[in-house]
Amino acid sequence: MQISMTINGTDVTREIEPRVLLVHFIRDDLRLTGTHWGCDTTNCGTCVVLMDGQPVKSCTVLAAMADGHTITTVEGLAHGATLDPVQQGFMEEHGLQCGFCTPGMMLTARALLDHNPHPEPLEIREAISGQICRCTGYATIVRSIQWAAEHPAGAAPETTTSESTEHEVHA
Ligand code: FES
Ligand code: FES
Repeated sequence: MQISMTINGTDVTREIEPRVLLVHFIRDDLRLTGTHWGCDTTNCGTCVVLMDGQPVKSCTVLAAMADGHTITTVEGLAHGATLDPVQQGFMEEHGLQCGFCTPGMMLTARALLDHNPHPEPLEIREAISGQICRCTGYATIVRSIQWAAEHPAGAAPETTTSESTEHEVHA
């Protein structure tokens, strides 16, 4: 069967088998391997992508069900060379260790902040409650999402002072 969808702003049309899962379509057909594949049983949440702005576990969605919809994967979070504030937050607050859960966590965070720009810590924990971090980094993940909520325009561009330049030269 033929399916068409918009992925990260690009329209794609492919012939697929009807039984293909969205996670495999994204990873194997489109080679967008930032979407991870973990449990394959709707438990871990590492495969989360956004479908029309809502987080979905792509191991639980047939690619055919995404026909005509808009999908965002982690590769579509940044705006050109500018990271999404959520991505910046994970950097600032060390929201990842091995990084396996990170793409799904960041997409869930993006959807949360799009609907609730100022979530309480408990609301953040509820939002990511369907996702597992095997590195048990939940405290830093929550802080990362809080950072993004507090910096909706992202971090201010870094400025190079004469002091820092001098330090770099003599380092
Ligand atoms: S791979 Fe989809 S929930 Fe684990
Ligand atoms: S950072 Fe390793 S699973 Fe979450």
